[in-house]
Amino acid sequence: MIDLMQKIVSFTKRRGFIFPSSEIYGGFGSCYDFGSLGVEMKNNIKRAWWDEMIKKHDDIVGLDSSILMSPKVWEASGHLTAGFADELVECKKCHHRFRKDFLKKGKCPDCGGELTKARKFNLMMKTFVGPVENEAAVTYLRAETCQGIYLNFKNVLQSMRKKIPFGIAQIGKAFRNEINPRNFVYRTREFEQMEMQWFCQPKEAPKIFNYWKKERINWYLNLGIKKSNLRAREVSKDELAHYAKRAVDIEYKFPFGWKEIEGIHNRGDWDLSNHSKHSGEDLKYEGYFPHIIETSVGVDRSLFAFLCDAYTEIRGGRTKTTKAAKEVEILLNLNKSLAPIKVAVLPLVKNKPKLVKKAKDVYQMLKPQFRCQYDEVSSIGRRYRRQDEIGTIFTLTVDFESLEQNDLTIRDRDTMEQERVKIEDLIKILKKKLNEQ
Ligand code: GAP
Repeated sequence: MIDLMQKIVSFTKRRGFIFPSSEIYGGFGSCYDFGSLGVEMKNNIKRAWWDEMIKKHDDIVGLDSSILMSPKVWEASGHLTAGFADELVECKKCHHRFRKDFLKKGKCPDCGGELTKARKFNLMMKTFVGPVENEAAVTYLRAETCQGIYLNFKNVLQSMRKKIPFGIAQIGKAFRNEINPRNFVYRTREFEQMEMQWFCQPKEAPKIFNYWKKERINWYLNLGIKKSNLRAREVSKDELAHYAKRAVDIEYKFPFGWKEIEGIHNRGDWDLSNHSKHSGEDLKYEGYFPHIIETSVGVDRSLFAFLCDAYTEIRGGRTKTTKAAKEVEILLNLNKSLAPIKVAVLPLVKNKPKLVKKAKDVYQMLKPQFRCQYDEVSSIGRRYRRQDEIGTIFTLTVDFESLEQNDLTIRDRDTMEQERVKIEDLIKILKKKLNEQ
């Protein structure tokens, strides 16, 4: 399974999904850059989540709040107190630090040295605002996006003329000074969250919690995650975050085991009552603090789960007709809406100018409509496999018949079946197949 992890790490780099940050300087502590295909896939995930929240549900509206906020926010939220800290031990010999809950034995995993007693280590990333770097100028990069939602609760309520219950959705970067970032993009210090906060009457909260738990599980299943790789785990009382009354983790079976990809939290009135107390602003609605049900998922972490789920190796290849097909073939069978490239256009051969011109014309026609690639390099079989590897849904081939008939073949990534269609009908047919009509 670890082997699979290494394969995915090298595959994502080779094919332009994910690169280590600052690589020419030897890398930089668990930060990653998303390549041309990675950013397309990330945008597709964000769009799928945003549509699910805003288009599918009544009474959810969007927000894009700032990353930097008053440091008082983090006092009120509990993040600056012991609530948002990991227990850390240090090796007395090599001085490396480890999260206590990650250690199996009571010795340093690097040098076997003796460890200090555990100390709390706060995860907030500190920075300064303005030209003077003193205590008064300290603030923090947000550790969760939802705090910006609570601060704007009244603004949104009034400006959007909402009534309880309603929700606010937000996508944005969050930062945590993780002690043990690990497992590729699973746990990093800079990541993106998609969070929705549902404000409701206290007595409605338990029912709404169950509703969102079901909705969120279905979102992954509808986007193609295999049922056997997904589960919901009730978080035990002693594991609950400082703000949570109840939590369910949606977990994915990664190559390194079952791990959380999303949290559903009943935050009670923790946030609005604490922000009321600390700011002096009355954040009650009709005399009470609304309770909050939160759904919170990492973009990077869910992208990793979607990639792991779609990554398939086929020993000996799927087609038995060409020599190259004897190698291990990779198929990335991503859901249509998540695949970074929807359509590739290939001339059958590249040394026939008429064929190349026709294929390029088709590519230019499709480019404004779909994420497309044009590829004329190497044999047609190899080019099909290159597209299968990055999850391209349809590969179109312009051949000699195309010059006579003004048509081409559409090859389906999953079935490999080919169908001849007229070029004038192409956009309509592709839209229908991609459910974009
Ligand atoms: N507002 C609630 C909250 O932030 P969380 O369980 O700490 O809850 C929610 O985080 C989600 O954010 C996680 O399920 C995960 O997908 C993502 N996430 C949290 N820390 C992360 C990290 N260090 N790297 C990548 N993703 C992370």
